[in-house]
Amino acid sequence: MAKAAKNNTLKLKFDTINYAPAPESKSSATIDAQYDLFINGKFEKPLSKKYFDTINPATEEKLSSVAEANAADVDKAAKAARTAYDKVWSKMPAKERAKYIYRIARMIQERAREFAVIETLDGGKPIRESRDIDVPLVANHFFYYAGWADKLAYAFPNRNPKPLGVAGQIIPWNFPLLMAAWKIAPALATGNTVVLKPAETTPLTALKLAEIIQESDLPPGVVNIITGAGATGAAIVNHPDINKIAFTGSTDVGKIIQRAVAGTDKKVTLELGGKAANIIFEDAPIDQAVEGIINGIYFNQGHVCCAGSRLFVQESIYKEVMRKLKDRIATLIVGDPMDKNTDVGAINSKQQLETIHKYITIGKKEGLEIFESSCTLPKKGFFCKPTLFTNVAQSSRIAQEEIFGPVLAIQTFRTDDEVIEKANNTPYGLSAGVWTDKGSKIFNLTTKLRAGVIWANTYNKFDPTSPFGGYKESGFGREGGLQGLGTYLNV
Ligand code: NAI
Ligand code: MG
Repeated sequence: MAKAAKNNTLKLKFDTINYAPAPESKSSATIDAQYDLFINGKFEKPLSKKYFDTINPATEEKLSSVAEANAADVDKAAKAARTAYDKVWSKMPAKERAKYIYRIARMIQERAREFAVIETLDGGKPIRESRDIDVPLVANHFFYYAGWADKLAYAFPNRNPKPLGVAGQIIPWNFPLLMAAWKIAPALATGNTVVLKPAETTPLTALKLAEIIQESDLPPGVVNIITGAGATGAAIVNHPDINKIAFTGSTDVGKIIQRAVAGTDKKVTLELGGKAANIIFEDAPIDQAVEGIINGIYFNQGHVCCAGSRLFVQESIYKEVMRKLKDRIATLIVGDPMDKNTDVGAINSKQQLETIHKYITIGKKEGLEIFESSCTLPKKGFFCKPTLFTNVAQSSRIAQEEIFGPVLAIQTFRTDDEVIEKANNTPYGLSAGVWTDKGSKIFNLTTKLRAGVIWANTYNKFDPTSPFGGYKESGFGREGGLQGLGTYLNV
């Protein structure tokens, strides 16, 4: 088929179609008016006596109020975790521990719909993603690590692996339940106990997970889930009787944590920001690559630490890629995250939307060329049009700083060496993407790009068996796979 003709018909078709709304039902989800702290197997009122609201960022409506743990609450949770570690969890045979982790995995599957709906209501991501990506990955993560629990001696032969003790875990709002699974599953499989804090804008699925943990009869205190904002996180980091801190979030807070634990014997893993290069060579399958670009930056509203936020296109195919990319952006459905047609949902918070707007203004002021989707945004809630900048210089702040929103910075290149140098020219090193027909080119780039995860001819694919983590200011330590066990063990 003639390429141009095919493209025009596609465009016409999409421009004229208005999908009827296909809203997911909220009936599968029960959200309580108020949530307390999950400590020692029970929901307990906070000693702080304080609560804060969590809202639906797509409507700005309040969903629930949630306890705000202070240092005394954190201490209570840490003590419960210590007692559970000393008296029960560290003494339990590994295959018994595994049974609980399998049980939690199955219970998540049974209540998958409810988790997906609450994740979308509390965080703003499209229901299609919560339902088809986040929640299945969460269950898989628990299943995967349950399998390792009684095989640690094989995973680390002749190294006598031993748990660290109590793990303090602090997670962000972009993949709330998935990050809870990434943290809790390997900690339990390796015999540690947990104090976990979800992000203040997205606490609800972690609290639902607490309900499941309670129903699973996991011994009290093995997992404690407490809510609050930065001060609560800091109290976890500074608690003297916590042996390991696992953090995912901003590079700024990562640096604060590193300073706080310096000179203590706490172990730390940090999974921080990114500014990934997605590199398209002239011999790449262009249509797939365009899908990969879209998935790389507009998936989850760009709230992805490994988002393909810098696009490098080889000069010879630049025009074609740009035409197809703009056509594709025009077809993205932006709006109600609960609608099954929606591709791009709500920005997680007013604050994050302001950050994104700030960067769009910077890009304009720097004189970059801007293109944005012509969609109309809902009147209420926090939304941002899929946006891209062209003519971007290496020194542009749009190309250097993490925006964490649906904003793409586009540059061109001629040779492999040039694109490797440009791609590596960032303080981050979390991920990258390479699109080419040639295996040799993939190997050349994957060995020279300084990034923890590199996708070839695909983007944003996750699997529990595969380690994830960064270089440089993107942090250190790996999560997922065999490597993800090692960071919870003394070997
Ligand atoms: P943040 O780093 O402040 O929040 C992440 C978690 O850390 C939350 O649970 C928060 O309550 C907690 N926290 C905040 N201050 C803390 C402290 N002093 N000690 C211990 N815990 C603390 O991230 P924020 O402000 O929500 O987002 C800012 C930027 O960070 C985003 O624009 C994005 O660029 C980046 N980010 C990166 C993420 C990633 O996955 N790597 C996830 C979220 C944000
Ligand atoms: Mg919320």
